[in-house]
Amino acid sequence: MEHGYDLVVIGGGPGGYVAAIRASQLGMKVACVEMRGTLGGTCLNVGCIPSKHLLHASHAFHEAKHGFAKLGVVTKGVALDLNQMMSSKNEVVSGLTQGIEFLFKKNKVDYVQGRGEILGPGKVKVALDKGERILDTKHILIATGSESTPLPGVVVDEKKIVTSTGALDLKKVPKKLVVIGGGVIGLEMGVVWRRLGAEVEVIEFLDKILPTMDAELSKTMQRTLKKQGFSFRLGTKVTGAKTTRSGVNLTVEPAKGGKVEQVEADVVLVSIGRRPYTRGLGLEKVGVETDRGKIKINSHYQTNVAGIWAIGDVVDGPMLAHKAEDEGVVAVELMSGQAGHIDYDCIPSVVYTDPEVASVGRTEEELKAQGLDYKVGKFPFQANSRARASGGGDGFVKILADSDTDQVLGAHIIGPDAGTLIAEIALGMEFGASSEDIARTCHAHPTLNEAVKEAALAVEGRQIHA
Ligand code: FAD
Ligand code: NAI
Repeated sequence: MEHGYDLVVIGGGPGGYVAAIRASQLGMKVACVEMRGTLGGTCLNVGCIPSKHLLHASHAFHEAKHGFAKLGVVTKGVALDLNQMMSSKNEVVSGLTQGIEFLFKKNKVDYVQGRGEILGPGKVKVALDKGERILDTKHILIATGSESTPLPGVVVDEKKIVTSTGALDLKKVPKKLVVIGGGVIGLEMGVVWRRLGAEVEVIEFLDKILPTMDAELSKTMQRTLKKQGFSFRLGTKVTGAKTTRSGVNLTVEPAKGGKVEQVEADVVLVSIGRRPYTRGLGLEKVGVETDRGKIKINSHYQTNVAGIWAIGDVVDGPMLAHKAEDEGVVAVELMSGQAGHIDYDCIPSVVYTDPEVASVGRTEEELKAQGLDYKVGKFPFQANSRARASGGGDGFVKILADSDTDQVLGAHIIGPDAGTLIAEIALGMEFGASSEDIARTCHAHPTLNEAVKEAALAVEGRQIHA
């Protein structure tokens, strides 16, 4: 038995590793248990970072092939070296995951490599390659993340039928990729392989893609992706998959029932959502309550068992790296007696396609359902000089503000660098900004941010450039 930890974090993803570092800054003696062999969790190893690198690399390839000529940049013999693209991705991933090991050393966090199991409050067993260790601690923070949700009848082999993990590591460009689930993973990975030459078909159960986003964004996104060569089967369910020598044969039918059809693919990506990962953690034995797989917590990230806390993908809320990180920080601040709070209305979410899609706060559909009166300010990137000068005029910024108080309730952007632009509005919302506050803030010219200012002006119908 090893005595004396203040905190043992189980899981070294963005939630867990950030919590461990913050706890150490607050003077706690901390260990972080991770079974993957590298730190950084889903995000750095098989999520945010490798997907964003492939989006970057495939964009460069696509631009060199199809975009440069218009700018007078002549390229000849542009070709794809997929091996090199994957090596480059792997290099970025290993650089960043090793960086976290360095941060742990610098912050005196003990990195324990192995699978953690909770034996009871204050006791964590770690199964190591050889043998085991028992860690004794005041607090335990569960940050074990999530895994891909399986689809009955569609057996993943990570070669022909893949999750995002396999889709980040295909050995050749499939002639046809079928994506099951038109959410964030399906669209981002679909865009990567479309740019590299695959035919991409999205099969979505509901009648729209990105179903939780503002309906106007979802419609615009689908139209844009169609222009990029995507095809869509909405309101459709997959009922079975057979792997053949050449690929996969899918059986599909309308979600509401109807004519059964076969769809052929070289590779199928299953991306119908993710579910919390708690296998082997010992929750049942210790009595930690869950709700549909998610660990139940109170507003201070405490489970029903004293001394056991949980954050990130394994608890309720959007499955996003920045949400996990912020929860990790606030949980350990609360643990150490400080005050801490997250405004869940101000968590931005971004889809890194081209154009990007970004949202914060409530959608128009949510405001209508809540019976709130709101005003809409909208500004197209076509009328933004920087977007036009940089070759990207598609999309818009939409700001939703309370009709009475003018407080910004939500913002939805589709267009160039939407993921960066949304930060300004999220910050404003954190401070309770009105649309007039944003409209009266001086924005540099020529920048994409001027589209945010103009959308804020448009809330009162006083935009200048459109
Ligand atoms: P995780 O990152 O899943 O980390 C949990 C860690 O716990 C894992 O490393 C696991 O090995 C470890 N673990 C589990 N059980 C045990 C145990 N018993 N003992 C020891 N270790 C254990 N989010 C964004 O915000 N932006 C993006 O661009 C983005 N892109 C994504 C792309 C893809 C393809 C995927 C799949 C996800 C993406 N996400 C993105 C989501 C993001 O990765 C997650 O929200 C985030 O990683 C959650 O962090 P976490 O710390 O809660 O869990
Ligand atoms: P998702 O929840 O974004 O999308 C899943 C889609 O599959 C939905 O449109 C849903 O209606 C559909 N679906 C569900 N069951 C289906 C079925 N049986 N047949 C057909 N369609 C079905 O989930 P996704 O894309 O798997 O991503 C998982 C999580 O990872 C997301 O919650 C997201 O937050 C996170 N992520 C975030 C990224 C980012 O921030 N840029 C990038 C990638 C993932």
